Amino acid sequence: MSQQLKISNINVLTEEYVPAELPAREKELKELLDNTERPIPKNIYLFGDKGLGKTALITNFIRTLNIQRPDITTIYISCRRTLSETFEQNFPNLPPRRVSHIWFDKSSGKKNTIVFDDVGKLWRKKELSYLLHDLYDSQGQKHKKISAIVVGTMTPRIFDRDFLTEPVVSRYGFNALPLTRYNATQLKAIIQQRIMLGLKGQVNGNAVDFIVSKIERHNSDVRLGIRILANAAYRAEKQEKPLTLEYAQAGWEEEKYKWWTSEIEALHPHVAFLLYLIYLFQKNECTTSREIYYHYQQNLNKYKIKPMVVRQLRTYLDTLEKQGWITIDTTFTPRTGKQSKIQLTDAPQDTLKTIFEGIDWTQYLK
Ligand SMILES: Nc1ncnc2c1ncn2[C@@H]1O[C@H](COP(=O)(O)OP(=O)(O)OP(=O)(O)O)[C@@H](O)[C@H]1O
Ligand SMILES: [Mg+2]
Repeated sequence: MSQQLKISNINVLTEEYVPAELPAREKELKELLDNTERPIPKNIYLFGDKGLGKTALITNFIRTLNIQRPDITTIYISCRRTLSETFEQNFPNLPPRRVSHIWFDKSSGKKNTIVFDDVGKLWRKKELSYLLHDLYDSQGQKHKKISAIVVGTMTPRIFDRDFLTEPVVSRYGFNALPLTRYNATQLKAIIQQRIMLGLKGQVNGNAVDFIVSKIERHNSDVRLGIRILANAAYRAEKQEKPLTLEYAQAGWEEEKYKWWTSEIEALHPHVAFLLYLIYLFQKNECTTSREIYYHYQQNLNKYKIKPMVVRQLRTYLDTLEKQGWITIDTTFTPRTGKQSKIQLTDAPQDTLKTIFEGIDWTQYLK
């Protein structure tokens, strides 16, 4: 007899929910906790792509620390576009100029951890260094007991280059702690944990496998998996059925468009435009960098954009290749010179078509 599905805890199906145990992140949690036990805790730069559990890991780190080491103060700051916005959001009751006192007052001589989450949101990236500077300098010798944990999505090299000023780099190094992509087994453990915590009734194994395969193919973004699971669960519950593969598939259909839209929006507008041109002009499933360059220059008037130098085009194409949108196959023959064949990878063309056609490019490229 099949059991119909019931949602027993709706919170578990939200992206904000952080379970008390994080499968596949035990090692990183231990590393953060061990660091606080060092006589002089290190500064850490925690990084990884979106949806890999950075905020979740930090949340559990703070929870655990609050229980195990109530003597250590932790301050969590989620960065916004500007410093003033960041302060308003994180410390609504403090006048801006008093904000820096909160870590100073609380930290007199004691160990202390300050987390800056989502630093990529800061428009003026060096502002982070002003904060760090403030933090350490006014502490005098005590600063050594304070460790900063900075969380972002860029590589450590880019982080150092864009966010840290010379004095900060030379005086306070950051140790990189990467969060790698989950594999299928790990993703399965994560999804099964959610099912156990939030659902009652029958969930078919092939539905779970389907969701796991979708997450795996989309950069291991767990957030995506949770949304598919939630969509599927709502449908199954409403129709008083078990959670079957069909519901999981319908749950994915609902997310597909949103996921790809956010991927396109994350690109620099001109890079997105190049991708659009590649999409438009791929004959026999491929095009060349020359053709793309030609089409770009042909469209200057239509979209009111400025000409692009070849070197810029190369950089943009490299970006697209690095992010897995296209493959570039460069060959050299004496007769034709250097030729780069460009091919779109497995992004679903019908979804891209809808998204591209929905964009007002003249506006978008302004
Ligand atoms: N190992 C895990 N175990 C259980 N849940 C996880 C795990 N990793 C991620 N999640 C869940 O996935 C969702 C997204 O994770 P989280 O918000 O931590 O991602 P993030 O790396 O901070 O992404 P972003 O860069 O967009 O801020 C959350 O609901 C989180 O609880
Ligand atoms: Mg986050």
